[in-house]
Amino acid sequence: MCGIVGYTGSQKAAPILLEGLKKLEYRGYDSAGIAVLNNKVIEVNKVTGRIANLCERTADGKNCPGTVGIGHTRWATHGAPTDTNAHPHMSNDGKFAVVHNGIIENYIALREELIQKGYRFESQTDTEVVVHLIEMYYNGDLKKAVIKTSARLQGSYALGVVCTDEPEKVYVAREASPLILGVGVGENYFASDVTALVSYTRNAIYMDDGEFAEITPDSITVFNPAGQPVEKKISRITWDVGSAEKGGYEHFMLKEIIEQPRAVKATIAPRIKDGEIILDETELTADYLTSINKIVITACGSAYYAGCAGKYAIEKLCRIPVQVELASELRYSDPLIDEHTLLIVLSQSGETADTIAAMKECKNRGATTLAVVNVVGSTIANTADFTLYTWAGPEIAVATTKGYSTQVSVLYLFALYAAKKMNRIDDKLYNDLLECLKTLPKKIQEAIDMNSAISTLAKKYHGVDSMFFIGRNTDYAVALEGALKMKEISYVHAESYAAGELKHGTIALVEEHQPVIALCCNEAIMEKTMSNIVEVKARGAEVLAVTFKDNHKIVSLADDVIFVPKIEMIFSAAVEIIPLQLLAYYVAKENGCDIDKPKNLAKSVTVE
Ligand code: G6P
Repeated sequence: MCGIVGYTGSQKAAPILLEGLKKLEYRGYDSAGIAVLNNKVIEVNKVTGRIANLCERTADGKNCPGTVGIGHTRWATHGAPTDTNAHPHMSNDGKFAVVHNGIIENYIALREELIQKGYRFESQTDTEVVVHLIEMYYNGDLKKAVIKTSARLQGSYALGVVCTDEPEKVYVAREASPLILGVGVGENYFASDVTALVSYTRNAIYMDDGEFAEITPDSITVFNPAGQPVEKKISRITWDVGSAEKGGYEHFMLKEIIEQPRAVKATIAPRIKDGEIILDETELTADYLTSINKIVITACGSAYYAGCAGKYAIEKLCRIPVQVELASELRYSDPLIDEHTLLIVLSQSGETADTIAAMKECKNRGATTLAVVNVVGSTIANTADFTLYTWAGPEIAVATTKGYSTQVSVLYLFALYAAKKMNRIDDKLYNDLLECLKTLPKKIQEAIDMNSAISTLAKKYHGVDSMFFIGRNTDYAVALEGALKMKEISYVHAESYAAGELKHGTIALVEEHQPVIALCCNEAIMEKTMSNIVEVKARGAEVLAVTFKDNHKIVSLADDVIFVPKIEMIFSAAVEIIPLQLLAYYVAKENGCDIDKPKNLAKSVTVE
């Protein structure tokens, strides 16, 4: 999805903007542009395709003099990915340039109004109305023009604006789209994502909805929608520069797969003290937990599948109904949610538009909201009643890996914590499961180490048209995420099925050499899944089974077997997913795909 950056200071702006945009590449984009103010003139450079093209055009920014500027990576929504539709957009009088993330929902009406008033539109974008509104409302006071413009906009936006009359200033405004200000010394920045700021400053101000700010090299003033200054806290960015870079790996995805033991350890270890789980970021007391009658988990994409895996652990240990709902469905479903519902919201980015909307809908109906989020200060983290951060560090590859496993780990912690608070678990089982949970990072490491040869297996399983992923219960939850990983990055059609459902339809598609990935780590129902393996084998399928170490029963049934270390069944998703992430990675590599930036996908889906 789109990304924005901005700078004002004493250094040349263009190279800083280009570096910032490169850090946002992972979000997915199809064109990019920068606008730099120099001697009261705005120079705009924008191109379709990669930022490398923009670097080439501007000699890495050296050809663009000026110390104030804004930049943008665009992921086309309104209008094709062309040079003209790329941002920044200019006003007709050449005085203003604007970059925008989000969607202006009432842009058609605004566009008609502006055309009638004589404004000329160059692009097909929704964004262009913003720059013409600013031009229309400007009478020597940019702050007033931004207030008046914001009041006309419906939808979501993070805006960056420069004006030739105020050559040292950048204005920004936020509504339902992330925007972070970077505080420097004699220079200041803004961006839609901390990864673009972290090489320049670790001091950040997180903007809230409805706020706008005036940024000069020496000051940042944030205002509320009425234009009154508001006090903002400066937060410290803890992510290091190294973790936002590839560090010798061919792809971010592989690096992030390998980082999972560390990420899961950073997420769970600080929350286990003296044999107890401490979730002191929340106020989930025994009284509160026993007062609720259900838990609803909502999320999108892999985060939704993390919820599916967590459901088993929570229901098993807490004996409370858990519903897992796609955020895009939940928000429009007139949901049966009230003050007796605990809503758990899962999101790596904390900015997924549908997840935010579903959360607000449920909050309005009285639910208490617990967010599990990776990005500090993100919208979901700020909106929830309580937030448990997943300490995975920046995740850059579009297809999530450590985001998923840390979300699942937090749900395991929560399940055990809540079971104890609700008095649904005896001390012995609690202590045993807690000891087991502590070993999770080690088991994930073993799963990585045991599967170093998966690249060889990928040579056999690449180049196929479709794959089926099957499993039951906890294995089924992992099959869902395994299939998603495969289709996201390798472009192979991959479908997951509850193994018991096969014979109600899917088995009709199983023919000679059809790859079937069979997950068999759940001992309690393994015999049943083994029967399904026999059924698909009888129709000629090529079966790749995933099972725990030393389970040799499967070896004679399947064509290939991947082993993972054995762990308590309710915690197995975080371990079992590892070989499937690696398999998807290596199949995608064999298929020659752009692994970190798969086509048509975005890291953070900030539009509905
Ligand atoms: C996109 C990403 C997925 C992610 C999903 C939800 O589709 O490509 O990897 O699972 O959004 O994102 P979130 O940031 O809310 O976890």
